Amino acid sequence: MERVDNAPRAKVKNLADYTPPTFLIDTVDLDFDLRDGETIVTAVLKGRRNPGGGSAGTLELDGQDLRLVSLTLNGVSVGADGYEIAGDRLSLKAVPDAFTLEVVTAIVPEKNTALEGLYMSEGMYCTQCEAEGFRRITYFPDRPDVMAVYTTRLEADAARFPVLLSNGNLTETGDAGEGRHFAVWHDPFPKPSYLFAAVAGDLACISDSFRTTSGRDVALRIYVEHGNEHLCAHTMDSLKRSMRWDEDVFGLEYDLDLFMIVAVGHFNMGAMENKGLNIFNSKFVLADPETATDGDYERLEGIVAHEYFHNWTGNRVTCRDWFQLSLKEGLTVFRDQEFTSDMHSRGVKRVADARLLRAAQFPEDSGPTAHPIRPESYVEINNFYTVTIYEKGAEVIRMIYNLLGAESFRQGMDLYFERHDGQAVRCEDFVAAMEDASGVDLGQFRLWYSQSGTPELEVSLSHDASAKTATLKVRQILPPTPGQRDKKPMLIPLSMALLDPAGREMPLQLRGENAETAPASRVLSVIEQEQEFVFENVETPPIPSLLRGFSAPVKLHSGLSGDEERFLFQHDSDPFARWDAGQSYLTRMLLSAAMDGRETVLEATFHDAVAEILRDPSLEPAFAAELLTLPGESVLAESMRPADPDAIHRVRRAARKEIGLKHADALQALYERLAKAYAADDMSTAAMGSRALKALVLGYLVAGGEADARALAARQASEAVSMTESMAALQALNGTDCPERTAALAAFHDRWENAPLVLDKWFSLRAMSSLPGTLSEVEALLQHPKFDFGTPNRVRALIGAFVSGNPVQFHAADGSGYSFLADQIIKLDGLNPQIAARLVAPLTRWKKYDEARQRMMRECLERILRQPGLSPDVTELVTKGLG
Ligand code: TRP
Ligand code: ZN
Repeated sequence: MERVDNAPRAKVKNLADYTPPTFLIDTVDLDFDLRDGETIVTAVLKGRRNPGGGSAGTLELDGQDLRLVSLTLNGVSVGADGYEIAGDRLSLKAVPDAFTLEVVTAIVPEKNTALEGLYMSEGMYCTQCEAEGFRRITYFPDRPDVMAVYTTRLEADAARFPVLLSNGNLTETGDAGEGRHFAVWHDPFPKPSYLFAAVAGDLACISDSFRTTSGRDVALRIYVEHGNEHLCAHTMDSLKRSMRWDEDVFGLEYDLDLFMIVAVGHFNMGAMENKGLNIFNSKFVLADPETATDGDYERLEGIVAHEYFHNWTGNRVTCRDWFQLSLKEGLTVFRDQEFTSDMHSRGVKRVADARLLRAAQFPEDSGPTAHPIRPESYVEINNFYTVTIYEKGAEVIRMIYNLLGAESFRQGMDLYFERHDGQAVRCEDFVAAMEDASGVDLGQFRLWYSQSGTPELEVSLSHDASAKTATLKVRQILPPTPGQRDKKPMLIPLSMALLDPAGREMPLQLRGENAETAPASRVLSVIEQEQEFVFENVETPPIPSLLRGFSAPVKLHSGLSGDEERFLFQHDSDPFARWDAGQSYLTRMLLSAAMDGRETVLEATFHDAVAEILRDPSLEPAFAAELLTLPGESVLAESMRPADPDAIHRVRRAARKEIGLKHADALQALYERLAKAYAADDMSTAAMGSRALKALVLGYLVAGGEADARALAARQASEAVSMTESMAALQALNGTDCPERTAALAAFHDRWENAPLVLDKWFSLRAMSSLPGTLSEVEALLQHPKFDFGTPNRVRALIGAFVSGNPVQFHAADGSGYSFLADQIIKLDGLNPQIAARLVAPLTRWKKYDEARQRMMRECLERILRQPGLSPDVTELVTKGLG
């Protein structure tokens, strides 16, 4: 077999090799002459030697897929001997200490399927420059520590592209002759190239405004395709609430007079925080109750907030280099989590975040692509927009927040902005500001930035009745990860309480402390590999409630019995700990049934607890839904060695059926009560929570297997006036081979065929059905007239949903799921390497499965790697995946 060496395109970059830029760029004047066939970009850069950047006379510029038209230095055309181009680098020789460089390049946005740089989506031009897309527009030192003031002139056909946008403020518009027009934008804030953006298209505009605390009026504009104007209300409202919240909580005001959001159909990720001109995947802009689910509403709100919050955490203070990505992403995710908690339910949000971390980040952290939140090396930075950088990064910020307390944390934030506004800095600078503002020593804590892998905590509690003491023994285990065999003990905040037999919190008096001031709940700082905490005046044997609020992103081995976990599941006042005890208890029962092939999965006592929850009117419905949701198949697989996807699916299904049958009457009654609780278009937190519980209840009823439950779901599907109701019914039916499912899916398809965002849901439902034969159906759907490899949302909806949302079919014993995925990755890589690379992860988790599956998964990885011309993106992940 021919072996292709993809190594030349895959070069490793190391944090240790960082050097400051030799030259700085103060201003960039960009001119886009947007024309069919070729767009001409003229960039005028005013630069100067960086005082801290060495004495080299060569200016290094990045450029990719560009046709260089001309290069003029201080008014003199640069000849072929004045520069060198090697790969994606242009080295300009003999550059004086101060210079003006004009670079003219030609690019072809129409043919740009990677969706980085300037590309076309549905007849409009748009840009995506993070992380390294600006180099596909012009030659430039495309690194975030080069910050410049941009002035952008866009010129295009006036009829086809009436709207011309870029960062900052509009300073000039005019007629350019021949039916063309132009606009000039100026952004006064120096920024790195990755925050540059431009848009040209025929778009509708929704306007509103926001008055800041200091009394400035900011114009707010959302640009969407004509006909979608009525779908922007939730986005505008979310934006205004985000602006208010950032003022209230962090004292951060918006800084320009204009804030714009543009929705585009073709987009590699969720959204992008370009200064003053956020560009969004249209999935996260357009919503009404008829076409978007409650879940979509919540995600949209969170993403709008996230991108808006980046204006300070990311834009005003940015990253020195891409190794520092979590500086802006971890911090901004923490901020959007807090926003969501304040808008809705804190406990439910915490559970959702913990669930995501476990389902996606823990597997990453225990697999071959594990990396610290501040990585030390990478090949392709696009591969590092990971759940580790984002979500674990946010957990690390949250631990700092908990260690310092809200007030000191806020002082730390203030100091961070005071010191670094307008700068490109490191994670270390953030930690130092927190430390200096609070006086809290974060020395050992810094290991969270450099050590990868999920720490494990082994805990045991013993009670000494005669001494009236309870001793909590804690051991931390730091499993080896790629490149990190031996690790140092970390500082792990362990929030805990001790509950008495009635479920009340007991005073926590550590040895040597005062009894009067003993708190009911406290955070222990675990700093040693093994440590003991002794509590005094403990009369009765307590039950420990541990890792309350998910106080650290660790795996907890609580040492509790099933009975104790069930007790916490029924009585713990901490929402996370209560939910977690239930999950742990369920995992135990499900896995033990999976291993010995039992038919009955759940213990009778667990059913009693379920019955109690179903009739407890004091429980917040959204939280009740979390409590009653079984751990997902991929989470269960994490706790089983080797993971048996068929057994896991079988017991989970059996457990759902048991619940559906045993509690049929209570579920039915609850369904009826919830059905009348709120109007379908009531988007309040309470209404959404009530619908979440109703969806769960319907799912269990159908899982019970009775015909009248299927009829109920079928009725809900056909009578639904909202997408939430409709999707809940379809999801409930999706795992059962019955005429009701077929009919409901067909009706949904016919109704929404021409609504792309809704049709994506139909593709996903088809891909995520656990029924046998799903893979053949997915293969057939690749030929569906509406399927398109060039539209990331559609690729994610079909292929992504199958490989990540359908473990039992993806892991089919004959390896058909694996080779299907390998085929799709190879196909996509030629079009859009970022999207191809995002599908690789499931194949890299081979170590968790039996030998036969391991062999097949590895074979697929090897086959991908043999492809000639494979992108650095996929090459890096597959190489690491082979281990
Ligand atoms: N910075 C963006 C965010 O966190 C994400 C992002 C990075 C992105 N690269 C991208 C978005 C490429 C779209 C395309 O919100
Ligand atoms: Zn972000």
